[in-house]
Amino acid sequence: MSETLNPLINLGISCFFILSLRGLTFPRSAYRSNLLSMIGMSLTLLWMLIYCTHPFLVLCAIILGMIIGIFVSQKVKMTDLPQTVAILNGCGGLSAFLISTCAILEENLDILDTPISAVIGIFTFSGSIIAFAKLQGLIKKNFGNLNQLLNLLIFIILLLTLIEYALHPDIQGFLIISVLALLLGLTVTLRIGGADMPIVISLLNACSGLDSATIGFVINNQLLIITGALIGVSGSILSFIMCKAMNRSLLTVLFGTTSTHTETDSYDRKHLVKTGTPTEAAFMMENARKIIIVPGYGMAVAQAQHILRQLSDILINKYKVDVKFAIHPVAGRMPGHMNVLLAEADIPYENVFSLTDINNEFSSADIAYVIGANDITNPLAKTDNSSAIFGMPILNVSQAKTVFVVKRSLAGGYTGLDNPLFYADNTIMLFGDAQKITAEIVKTLEH
Ligand code: TAP
Repeated sequence: MSETLNPLINLGISCFFILSLRGLTFPRSAYRSNLLSMIGMSLTLLWMLIYCTHPFLVLCAIILGMIIGIFVSQKVKMTDLPQTVAILNGCGGLSAFLISTCAILEENLDILDTPISAVIGIFTFSGSIIAFAKLQGLIKKNFGNLNQLLNLLIFIILLLTLIEYALHPDIQGFLIISVLALLLGLTVTLRIGGADMPIVISLLNACSGLDSATIGFVINNQLLIITGALIGVSGSILSFIMCKAMNRSLLTVLFGTTSTHTETDSYDRKHLVKTGTPTEAAFMMENARKIIIVPGYGMAVAQAQHILRQLSDILINKYKVDVKFAIHPVAGRMPGHMNVLLAEADIPYENVFSLTDINNEFSSADIAYVIGANDITNPLAKTDNSSAIFGMPILNVSQAKTVFVVKRSLAGGYTGLDNPLFYADNTIMLFGDAQKITAEIVKTLEH
């Protein structure tokens, strides 16, 4: 009975994931979408327990996984989510590799999708570990000069070994394939520069999805095939969107010139900029007609989203100012980072605009309030073709009459680049923690 029932139940459960993905396209329905995928995942685990041959072992694995998951979710800070995603991608890759290995050890040597799944799995695993180490700051050295020929050589040998395996499958061949794929994951990811890391994470995410789908074929599980394909395709689409947002091509990210961290020197340049106080900023804000707020990674670090909400409320309600929020596609450290934080603070969605929708409005704004953002406003992206961010679209904040930049120092952002915006005639720096500075502005505006 289960031979006909199993695919039907798998299909039914997949619907939860498909509907969940659909709802994630808009913040308002995102909460319901998460609930749907949680129900889908619970049903998957339940069905697995009923259908599998070793329910006790599976139950132990589920409980262990749940304990680790709950522990990690409590510990991980919002700003560390990209590293967490990298590790989760790595876990997906490793588990797919282990399942493939089991299939091979059970003498399924003659099926080619097993080693292919192992290759993608172990490549995703080693690539994700390097991505994690880079994002966590454990690997600081720049491997941008790592020879591309080495990657090409490993790739060609891997391809030849796969063909040899298809003709004469044996355990030794499988081992060689696995080691080569592991090495390729390391060498490809090691040379990718800091500014391209977000794209790599989403690409590895797509790989882990693709791998789940191939594993689905190996163990004949339709649910894995469908969910893996969903992750693979959505991860690929996200990678392309991010490439477009950063004006990079996928091939350039993986095999072209690398964009690297360029640490700003320690020379003190504070005397070269205009500095202001929160009281001065408050005075200018209450007399403004239109203010565009540009949040960045520093807002997330300072957890300034709630005080930002208070600022926007008081400006709109008490001073009748037109307040809008401008979100750059790679602001923060993960896709949608700023949208999530602003939604958490109940900032109305209709006041939040994407780069393409708002970039023309800066010229009509009295004030651009740049809070904890740096790279996404850096004019070097337009003017310096040797910079790591050259070609990336930026928010045109300098077109506003006055630009307030809130940050603690003149230090570089994610790419470490100096930002000419800070030295512009219409820019006033408000040095300090994003939350404290904004709270002082709100306090002044309240009186
Ligand atoms: P960044 O360029 O990283 O700049 C953030 C700024 O926030 C820093 O210059 C820092 O300056 C300031 N800051 C930190 N803590 C602060 C605090 N408590 N109060 C006030 N300011 C604080 O951020 P961005 O403009 O959002 O750009 C994002 C960058 O990250 C891009 O280069 C992007 O490619 C990269 N990236 C994005 C993602 C995704 S998918 N979004 C993932 C990985 C990397 P001070 O130290 O002087 O305060």
